[in-house]
Amino acid sequence: MGKHIPIYILLGLIPAVVISDILIYPLRNIKKRSATDVHTKGIEIYWMKIDCSVTSRFSRNVITSRAVNRANVSKEAFFDMELPKTGFITNFTMTIDGVIYPGIIKEKEVAQKQYQQAVSRGQTAGLVKAAGRKTEKFSVSVNIAPTSKVTFQLTYEELLKRNFGKYEMFIKVNPKQLVNSFEIEADIFEPQGISELEVEGTFINNDLLPVLKKSFSGKKGHVSFSPTIEQQRTCDNCTTTLLQGDFVIKYDVNRDSPNNLQIVNGYFVHFFAPKNLQRLPKNVAFVIDVSGSMYGQKIRQAKEALTKIVEDLKEEDHFNIILFESSVSTWKNKLIQATPENVNQSKEFISQIRDLGGTNLNDGLLTGIEMLNKAHESKSVPERSASLVIMLTDGQANEGVSDPRKIQENAKNATQGKYPIYNLGFGYGVDYAFLERLATENNGVARRIFEDSDAALQLQGFYDEVANPLLTEVELEYAENAISDLTQNSFKHFYDGSEIVVAGRITDNDLNSITAEVKAHGALEDLTYTEQADIEETAKAFEQQLYIFGEYIERLWAYLTINEQLEARSVAQGDEKVNLTAKALEMSLKYKFVTPLTSMVVTKPEDNEEKEAIADKPIEAEAKQQVSAYYPPSTPYHYSSVDGDPHFIIAVPQQEDALCFNINEEPGVVLNLINDPVTGVTVNGQLIGDKKSINDVRPPNTYFGKLGIITMNVTLEITTQKIVLQNDTVIRVFSWLDDVTLQEPSLTLIIKQKRSMEVSVGNGAKFVVVLHQVWKKHPLHRDFLGFYMLDSHRLSEETHGLLGQFFHPIGFDILEVHPGSDPEKPDATMTVKNNQLTVTRGWQKDYTADIRHGTNIPCWFIHNNGKGLIDGNHTDYIVPSIFSYKKI
Ligand SMILES: *[C@@H]1O[C@H](CO)[C@@H](O)[C@H](O)[C@H]1NC(C)=O
Ligand SMILES: *[C@@H]1O[C@H](CO)[C@@H](O)[C@H](O)[C@H]1NC(C)=O
Ligand SMILES: *[C@@H]1O[C@H](CO)[C@@H](O)[C@H](O)[C@H]1NC(C)=O
Ligand SMILES: *[C@@H]1O[C@H](CO)[C@@H](O)[C@H](O)[C@H]1NC(C)=O
Ligand SMILES: *[C@@H]1O[C@H](CO)[C@@H](O)[C@H](O)[C@H]1NC(C)=O
Ligand SMILES: *[C@@H]1O[C@H](CO)[C@@H](O)[C@H](O)[C@H]1NC(C)=O
Ligand SMILES: *[C@@H]1O[C@H](CO)[C@@H](O)[C@H](O)[C@H]1NC(C)=O
Ligand SMILES: *[C@@H]1O[C@H](CO)[C@@H](O)[C@H](O)[C@H]1NC(C)=O
Ligand SMILES: *[C@@H]1O[C@H](CO)[C@@H](O)[C@H](O)[C@H]1NC(C)=O
Repeated sequence: MGKHIPIYILLGLIPAVVISDILIYPLRNIKKRSATDVHTKGIEIYWMKIDCSVTSRFSRNVITSRAVNRANVSKEAFFDMELPKTGFITNFTMTIDGVIYPGIIKEKEVAQKQYQQAVSRGQTAGLVKAAGRKTEKFSVSVNIAPTSKVTFQLTYEELLKRNFGKYEMFIKVNPKQLVNSFEIEADIFEPQGISELEVEGTFINNDLLPVLKKSFSGKKGHVSFSPTIEQQRTCDNCTTTLLQGDFVIKYDVNRDSPNNLQIVNGYFVHFFAPKNLQRLPKNVAFVIDVSGSMYGQKIRQAKEALTKIVEDLKEEDHFNIILFESSVSTWKNKLIQATPENVNQSKEFISQIRDLGGTNLNDGLLTGIEMLNKAHESKSVPERSASLVIMLTDGQANEGVSDPRKIQENAKNATQGKYPIYNLGFGYGVDYAFLERLATENNGVARRIFEDSDAALQLQGFYDEVANPLLTEVELEYAENAISDLTQNSFKHFYDGSEIVVAGRITDNDLNSITAEVKAHGALEDLTYTEQADIEETAKAFEQQLYIFGEYIERLWAYLTINEQLEARSVAQGDEKVNLTAKALEMSLKYKFVTPLTSMVVTKPEDNEEKEAIADKPIEAEAKQQVSAYYPPSTPYHYSSVDGDPHFIIAVPQQEDALCFNINEEPGVVLNLINDPVTGVTVNGQLIGDKKSINDVRPPNTYFGKLGIITMNVTLEITTQKIVLQNDTVIRVFSWLDDVTLQEPSLTLIIKQKRSMEVSVGNGAKFVVVLHQVWKKHPLHRDFLGFYMLDSHRLSEETHGLLGQFFHPIGFDILEVHPGSDPEKPDATMTVKNNQLTVTRGWQKDYTADIRHGTNIPCWFIHNNGKGLIDGNHTDYIVPSIFSYKKI
């Protein structure tokens, strides 16, 4: 056939794509695929190996998976891997019945064009990537014939970073089935000699412990883990696997010399991490966002972390706490010493912190920087000390100076390059790209803090990395003229437990030795270190080492250089940005790294045609909330719902599409949503309006403020404050602050603290109520509820109501699409229930997956309160009270 039909998913290019492997609705014909049924019915992974080799911190990891189709029909074989975000994919191949399908790395723009052509031809997609906390996901599937075998092989490379005195190699293990032959093997070679090596596996229990082998001696370290199929079982005779979780190898090297210099094949690398240095006093301006959006758990966690952090300050340190919301307040008017009394006092101050108001990030940040400036000018901090700003924010500047570029300019002008700024972005509401640029321009880094129960620990963990500065103004110089393309060689601070790495190219073929000189300010004096290395010495250090990839220094140099170029590019503008992009792209292509500028295209055999698929590198700044495991993966057209002001979304799964409409009624009105006269299940919702608006022209928006649910002999009243469950004998009241699972014969209720509530009733119906909280002092909006029917198939044929009537299959036809009043939203003529309606293409938000931002569901919008789509007049659905039962 030989026909090429390129097919892709490029995340970040299609706005409606949520970064997850679940919602990919802009492309039609994507079938829901559940991991369990593909991995158990037919496709058997019989061999899996994770092979890691590390040479001087540079690691190459090869993951190979072999599967066979045991079924008598064609089946889809999946290959899903999670890789560290710091890694670059360098190779991927599929081998089917001896035929190799290689992955080819291309410039993203080229790939993007092919992708757009593919989309316009209505093709489906193959590879999807998603980002998690530490990892990003690579996943591919291919259809294979009965008894056919497939081999997937993925390679990625990364430079292991030293943190808290150890290099960490992070491997996510998740084969999803028992594997006949499963193995993790790691070989580490460090010319300085390995000083310690440990392995942690979240899934390793006492039975698996003996299977885990680790050893090190001299320059070599080895780890292997190969449990038999019996050892993989969760219990005797179980067919589920224990192997699911993190497998982490940590090691360190000897530091007899502060420097390690290696020179091989025209490249050199320099590792610098002196030991036994006296700590420098540090001066920290903590700049903390306390705006309204920090409410609840976030502010509690921030306070908890800050309390621990100030407790850990050393008496020689200076600090202050700057809070910003619409305005800025500070604990003290200058930096003060971290004496036990002062730390005590600051804890009292921290305990009083309240969330409030807007986000004046500019003034908060400048106040913090100004305090450091003043402290230095007035010499109230030691001359030999390290000053830094740590800023925590969860939102985007919306008061004072809110233009990110202007804030950056202001910060840069204020620091004059003197203090690193570390930005902690709390959750997904932040403008992470801005925080990254701001940090990069000021010698710091940005870090995402994930909204989770361990957020306080994440904050402390980050702080601990910068808790102990040992050197400032570190300059690494190389005397020879014959050196070019040096990576970053000047560093504001050097922290305990970390390591500085510099690499460069040697332009003179005859040069066989180099000299490094390191100058830095220490706690007591200025320090200078020199080190010399030559090719022979390096070769000698490697002489017992035969299997090492020879070009490792060149690849390490390329890895560092590309990362620096990408970082510089994010800050650059105009010509400079164009040039940096070109350079980073050229290097990504040359060294075959999948970076944010390149994509990998795989020619994929399927349906007797050839299709192509793509792998991309997700970018942290573009990451969105991960879909939680709370709901089963589903396409967005699987359930009907009502949410917002109030928007009804009617799923039409047969057509992989949706219909939507709004109901406009007065606050106080109760609407019947579901009414099943056979099972007795009834759901009503009462409208509330916005708070009084000042210049009220339009009628106020309305939302559901209360839901009433009747099932069997139980009633459930849900408001934005509480949940009241009542049966013949007992009344129980829950708060949205509770995290509750309640199981009773007639119903199961799961309250997810301040987020949502899932109810399953005895006859199998299942729905979710989502709590939308707005900032308490919002001038206009109040908290409201959303309702999602997840499973309605056990309700009777006679079910009716504004939502209930659509639980029976409904079909519609779109006759003619034509431009509407909004150029973005075409109109169309629709036939439905024997009516011809003019409808508009638009979208509505579904909040089940991402409660904060929602997910856009494309749908056909029916005007005039759903007239023509809903049975009768919308006013027919008005009922007298929240527990009324009315047959419509
Ligand atoms: C495939 O196997 C199933 C049961 O294992 C059997 O019912 C079916 O007839 C088989 N199909 C073919 C084409 O052999
Ligand atoms: C990619 O992997 C395949 C299979 O292992 C191998 O044959 C090929 O040479 C590799 N390509 C590169 C560029 O390393
Ligand atoms: C496992 O299966 C074997 C054979 O079917 C049986 O003899 C044994 O009792 C089972 N063990 C457990 C713990 O169920
Ligand atoms: C700090 O406060 C605690 C309790 O408030 C008190 O017991 C302790 O003596 C205080 N320490 C100092 C150094 O002020
Ligand atoms: C730069 O900072 C100085 C003080 O540090 C201030 O006087 C000046 O106005 C700033 N310039 C700009 C353009 O913000
Ligand atoms: C960008 O590259 C062009 C051509 O190599 C060069 O002329 C120009 O000076 C560069 N611009 C910047 C800002 O580096
Ligand atoms: C509901 O209550 C009625 C009368 O109070 C009782 O007869 C019936 O058994 C109850 N049903 C259930 C499912 O509890
Ligand atoms: C009412 O609720 C209580 C407590 O949850 C439970 O023990 C009791 O069985 C329920 N009664 C009925 C009739 O369902
Ligand atoms: C529909 O309801 C509106 C408002 O109550 C009313 O004015 C109109 O007459 C009703 N139409 C029908 C066909 O019942």
